[in-house]
Amino acid sequence: MCACICVCARSRRVARRCESRREVGSCPRCCCWCSAFSCRCSCWSCAAGRGKYMTFIMDPLLYPNIIKQGRQLDFDEFSNRVASFAFGYPPVTSKFPGLKEQITRGFILLQGDNLTPLTESMMGNLMLVFRQDYLDQESSWKTAYMHKFCNSIMFEATFLTMYGKPPSASRHSGMSVLETDFIKFDKMFPLLVAQIPIWLLGRTRAIRERLINYFLPHQMSCWSHSSEFIRTRFEMFEQYDTLRDFDKAAHHFAILWASLGNTVPAIFWVTYYLVSHPEALQFVRQELEDVLRLSGVEFSRDKDVTLTPAHLEKLLYMGTCTQRFCIRTLRDVNLKIIDPTFSTESAIEESLRLCSASMNIRVAQEDFSLRLDAERSAAVRKGDIIALYPQAIHLDPEIYEDPQTFRFDRYMQNGQKKTNFYKRGQKLKHYLMPFGSGASKCPGRFFAINEIKQFLSVILLYLDLELEEGQSKATLDLSRAGLGVMLPAEDVRFRYRLRPV
Ligand code: HEM
Repeated sequence: MCACICVCARSRRVARRCESRREVGSCPRCCCWCSAFSCRCSCWSCAAGRGKYMTFIMDPLLYPNIIKQGRQLDFDEFSNRVASFAFGYPPVTSKFPGLKEQITRGFILLQGDNLTPLTESMMGNLMLVFRQDYLDQESSWKTAYMHKFCNSIMFEATFLTMYGKPPSASRHSGMSVLETDFIKFDKMFPLLVAQIPIWLLGRTRAIRERLINYFLPHQMSCWSHSSEFIRTRFEMFEQYDTLRDFDKAAHHFAILWASLGNTVPAIFWVTYYLVSHPEALQFVRQELEDVLRLSGVEFSRDKDVTLTPAHLEKLLYMGTCTQRFCIRTLRDVNLKIIDPTFSTESAIEESLRLCSASMNIRVAQEDFSLRLDAERSAAVRKGDIIALYPQAIHLDPEIYEDPQTFRFDRYMQNGQKKTNFYKRGQKLKHYLMPFGSGASKCPGRFFAINEIKQFLSVILLYLDLELEEGQSKATLDLSRAGLGVMLPAEDVRFRYRLRPV
């Protein structure tokens, strides 16, 4: 039977099911043979806009055709409207000539050669926070909440890496207040994206104002060691007299959210999956220790571990030493049943497959016929929304066997990264899309993967970790479905103690 449904962009509830009772592949009401369906949203506060049609592309084999339609299907219009509403800055329009282009150009500072200083700075800040808050303690078992634990380390380490340090200290005072406000704002984020007026959201406006005020230019100009990315944005905003100081600060706050809002939950999930799969954790830890030993990196309770981008890359692709290393590791831990091909990156990607649910939204710039494949096309009107929902791929049992199960080595094959996943016998170009697609793909994705690896490396090298017994499995908080990486519905209790290193 036809499986088409319409989903309200705000509530994510199923608004209508196809009632045509046609065979799969022949439904005329859903515009294109069950590989895409349209829904006219009548929800008053829908992010897409009342009365707009949304066409969901459900067939992953059609994704490449949609993604390459950059000219007619635009991302900026939607994201600009939503981001300015959520973060409280004026929409980036022609009122600020050249601003949009400069913002986009600045994203390069998160990538390529610029990734090295950013990653090195992150390593230093991660160790600084971890050492002062966790390492300089006695070695007994301690209990903590896992999301809270991940957040407290990553929030401050990311802040220091991006925005720098205060004039005469290595850490900012008032970080825990900022972090608490950030968490409160983050909870309201889905409602802001749905364009619910902020005055209807209790104290959210005051909280957002406090967060924004932290980034006022006179304060930021006192901080040292900020990233090139933030320094460049700071100077760029200073060129615009039409931007108030508060507007500039709101832009900086938006970047704080972009760099933490998805990364922290991603870190939570990979930590959770590894701790709840001890055999996987042991493999990943062994991989890491071997990479460090082969590179001659020494570390101890008193000496910080330093993982350079080159070390992190070795965790990505094991190269020719992979097989030798894997076989020894297998013997060491006596887990011969597992395919001897693995890497930390695979475990991260597998977690992202399970916990990320970003909707990729594009707005039609003109009336046109959207070509789906050689035979099929769909009529699209100017202003209509075309949406990709990659989570449907991530959890498709035809693409991923046993899709609800965490398999840390799912993305590895014969010591290489596995890239061959199939739908209806055809190899998929897009099989894992936590970072969006096309021109709007997350510019921080390389940094994000590096920092997740750094965080994992630090906790796996220095800590023994166990889940507390008597808890039910962690589940996803679906209120963020469509917006990125989902938070856990409830935090998870775990135990940790310092390892003898
Ligand atoms: C696991 C971590 C992360 C995930 C899953 C993620 C995911 C995403 C997604 C899905 C988008 C929207 C893309 C689209 O709709 O096509 C996005 C945009 C963005 N991300 Fe990330 N992101 C992560 C980490 C980061 C980090 C660490 C940074 C910065 C340091 C960052 C900076 C940005 C920015 C600036 C944008 C907006 C790009 C634009 O306006 O064109 N992200 N991210």
